[in-house]
Amino acid sequence: MTGTEDLDRIVAAVMEGARYRNIDPQFIRRICAQEAQKRRGFREVVKASRSKLHQVGGAYQEKGMAYAEWEVWLDRLDGGLRNPAMPQFCREAMQYHASTHERLLILETFFKETLKSITPVHSILDVACGLNPLALPWMPVASDFSYIACDIYGDMVDFLNRFFKAAEVAGQAEVCDLIEETPSHPVQVAFVLKTLPCLEQVDKNIAQRLLRDLQAEHLLVSFPARSLGGRSKGMVKNYGNHFEEIAANENWKNIQRFEFANELAFLVSR
Ligand SMILES: C[S@@+](CC[C@H](N)C(=O)[O-])C[C@H]1O[C@@H](n2cnc3c(N)ncnc32)[C@H](O)[C@@H]1O
Repeated sequence: MTGTEDLDRIVAAVMEGARYRNIDPQFIRRICAQEAQKRRGFREVVKASRSKLHQVGGAYQEKGMAYAEWEVWLDRLDGGLRNPAMPQFCREAMQYHASTHERLLILETFFKETLKSITPVHSILDVACGLNPLALPWMPVASDFSYIACDIYGDMVDFLNRFFKAAEVAGQAEVCDLIEETPSHPVQVAFVLKTLPCLEQVDKNIAQRLLRDLQAEHLLVSFPARSLGGRSKGMVKNYGNHFEEIAANENWKNIQRFEFANELAFLVSR
């Protein structure tokens, strides 16, 4: 099943599911094409494509997002990031993406410690961001900072733009597929948080290319130290080794390592 017409039908069938409708259609097409090369029947390819999309995106949103409700809440928060109720809103919403939910535990220290040597931060590019831009109240940013964020979900990007507006900051969210293209915005630091293992499920060779192509003076790269189910399964050791293999091929000036209860992070300076 690889003809264009077949592929159009497969993509359309995948997108009939409400959980897939907000994902970048080009990304869905890539996944469907990959799965169609491995399997034969139409139903089988649709099922496998949905399953892969779930693994790399949907699995982090099992609780379902409450964008409409959050926008009403945001409408009531005037004064931007300085509003004392803003951190409470951000914490509440971050619970709805499994990745930021886990980070709530270490939120008070994660950005303060990992970014200490480059504080105050002037510009950030947050790739495959999930709801991480909502951690802004805990990031050591300069007064004139800018923030660019991207992910495969169109509805998430719309919400994040709404958040940046309410927060009264120079932020912009965009739909992206990192497998297809690396964002080219020049920034002080690029966040690649808990994302490489997810991208590697689609393209085994993405890590080196992505890290090399990002136009950033510093890279904050992290890995989960526990699975979504809560088990650790030697992840710190395995991901630590994986990162060292990547670093061995690069000419980076400095690497700082940070180990938190549920996340392993590296600040790379180059
Ligand atoms: C493990 S989560 C990490 C989210 C965020 N970086 C954090 O640490 O909280 C992985 C994120 O990657 C996004 N994603 C998956 N494949 C992607 C791709 N090809 N391009 C951009 N984003 C992608 C998912 O939608 C999800 O939000």
